[in-house]
Amino acid sequence: NNLKINIAIDGPAGAGKSTIARLVAKELSYIYVDTGAMYRAVTWHMLKAGIKPESAAEVLRHAQAMEIELIPGADGQKVLVDGRDVTPYIRSLEVSGMVSQYAQIEGLRKHLVALQQQMAARKGVVMDGRDIGTTVLPNAELKIFMTASVKERALRRFKELGDAQGVTLEQLEKDISERDRLDAGREISPLRCADDAIVLDTTHMDIPQVVDTIVSYCKTHTNS
Ligand code: CDP
Ligand code: CDP
Repeated sequence: NNLKINIAIDGPAGAGKSTIARLVAKELSYIYVDTGAMYRAVTWHMLKAGIKPESAAEVLRHAQAMEIELIPGADGQKVLVDGRDVTPYIRSLEVSGMVSQYAQIEGLRKHLVALQQQMAARKGVVMDGRDIGTTVLPNAELKIFMTASVKERALRRFKELGDAQGVTLEQLEKDISERDRLDAGREISPLRCADDAIVLDTTHMDIPQVVDTIVSYCKTHTNS
């Protein structure tokens, strides 16, 4: 069966979206698009160039001049900005702490949404973010809104980081709650569950269980 659909996965920080989306894409031989990585790459660039989120026009001008590429790889996706691999930099606490402020800029969102829509034009895409089911791919055949409790999400991030960044569980919980607040509260395409999305609370689910659930939804779809 070679009928391909588009799958939109949205939800708050640390719910497991990128991990799950990547594995679902692998299982189905679909293309994975991490839209958070695009907002992070832009944020990394602006911090480096010293452009504040208040300077919306300047942010947009720079973003339009940037070439952002998402390259699938064996151990995840690489992010290139103007040909340079910035993957190691975009998950830093510095970028995480600022990304939601740049992500509120309307012009920047329009620009990135257009790029994301181009990437999904041929179907067979699993895309994760905050506004995929509501704004980027409102016609996606399958929409998942993935959640987990704040405590569980902070704990997952904590385990992932280890001692590397010297960050405490409490700090992570604060960072995540603050981002949820900004992302859900912003005016332009806030984090919101699409009316036709399936809500998946993964607090008590492990990674294979979540992947299997979504793959089976997809199969139900493509076989009907
Ligand atoms: O992986 P994590 O949940 O920490 O975040 P991410 O998916 O990498 O996204 C980082 C930030 O980018 C989010 O907190 C949002 O502020 C923004 N974002 C967005 O506004 N819209 C998207 N479609 C994806 C990310
Ligand atoms: O993309 P998002 O911020 O939603 O989350 P993620 O970066 O994919 O996942 C955060 C962490 O939770 C990763 O270390 C995953 O391995 C882990 N995870 C988990 O333990 N159980 C799940 N059901 C999903 C993710």
